[in-house]
Amino acid sequence: MEIVIQPTAKAATSVAARIIARLLQEKPSAVLGLATGSTPLLLYRELIRMKLDWSKVKTFNLDEYIGLAPTHPQSYRSFMWENLFRHVNITKKNVHIPDGQAKDIPKFCAKYEQQIRATGGIDLQVLGIGTDGHIGFNEPTSSLASRTRIKTLTMQTREDNARFFGGKDQVPHHCITMGIGTIMEARQNLLLAFGANKARAIAEAVEGPITAFNPASVLQLHPTVKVCLDPSSASLLKRADYYRWVYANKPAWQQF
Ligand code: GLP
Repeated sequence: MEIVIQPTAKAATSVAARIIARLLQEKPSAVLGLATGSTPLLLYRELIRMKLDWSKVKTFNLDEYIGLAPTHPQSYRSFMWENLFRHVNITKKNVHIPDGQAKDIPKFCAKYEQQIRATGGIDLQVLGIGTDGHIGFNEPTSSLASRTRIKTLTMQTREDNARFFGGKDQVPHHCITMGIGTIMEARQNLLLAFGANKARAIAEAVEGPITAFNPASVLQLHPTVKVCLDPSSASLLKRADYYRWVYANKPAWQQF
């Protein structure tokens, strides 16, 4: 894992945006895995500002609530079109977001996995992290080998996301999420976390044991993970000084 601690969320986001911009320049037909939530909002704004060419890019979103109409303002489909896709030259058929209204959800999930495979796999997966360590909507105790499937949200996640819905009772109980096994197959993972409420989840994920109780900790087994943090989300890391030194002293050939 490469831990990049920047002075602000904006600075950490611009490191992440540069990594994605370079990928799209090197591989215009890259396959991106995308995340929702408040964390990647700055990233999407920055990518829009960079005026990259998205015409050949394919995207797969991590997750979606079950039962919300695609037009519901809190559906992740609405989120993605509102905050990224409508501002860039992406081709609609290249966008993939789990269908939370699919009649046969297991069949839909198997097809989603198959569609990812058919593109040659995800080049770079953007991740946020839940306060309980979830990635996508893989809640604690999710199988570390899981594939795209239905999951039940924890009370904590529903409370965390209540701010978007005007009350936790309106937050759906179920979702479709890429599995942890699916995420682990991305060629590169880029995890962003900002704010003190993420500090514990980040410390456990980066420096704790690998455990399904903090699903993000499995990323320790992935060969190419960058974790972009602000000082608050990094505040419980024991080796923060080391990570800062490593990043500040990267040889030119190792920069990104
Ligand atoms: C959400 C999403 C995750 C996201 C996480 C953190 O519920 N399903 O993909 O990373 O929880 O959200 P936020 O960035 O709003 O803190």
